[in-house]
Amino acid sequence: MLLTLLFLLGATVAAPLPSVELDKRTTHSGRATWFTPGLGNCGYTDNESDPVIAVSKSFYDQNGGGNCNQWIQIKNTANGKTAYGHVRDSCPGCGEYDLDLSPSVFKQLGSLDTGVLPISWHFEAKGWSP
Ligand SMILES: *[C@@H]1O[C@H](CO)[C@@H](O)[C@H](O)[C@H]1NC(C)=O
Repeated sequence: MLLTLLFLLGATVAAPLPSVELDKRTTHSGRATWFTPGLGNCGYTDNESDPVIAVSKSFYDQNGGGNCNQWIQIKNTANGKTAYGHVRDSCPGCGEYDLDLSPSVFKQLGSLDTGVLPISWHFEAKGWSP
């Protein structure tokens, strides 16, 4: 009994990784849409040429905006194309793991006319940029 307890304690001390690292390794799946950036929730004014991402409001609020400026790699799962953008805003109409992208990012993945793309994505380490 005591040995089991010690083993469990040892395992919990050894296992945890920083949450940023865990988040970096998590791949999310959702839908990508596009919008014209302006003043975002992160407090920056961007335009359609900037590599801007709005994460869902739900996701943004869970992290208290802590992902602002963090880069994300996005893949269009239909054609394998990838692009990078950084978090600048939140998207009230998005599902939990959907991303709203500026035209400059969306265009790297597919046609703006398509409107919606199937994507998978993951955070890069904080402070990293492409
Ligand atoms: C968009 O903003 C960038 C600075 O972030 C600026 O260099 C660029 O000229 C702007 N583009 C347009 C189309 O306004």
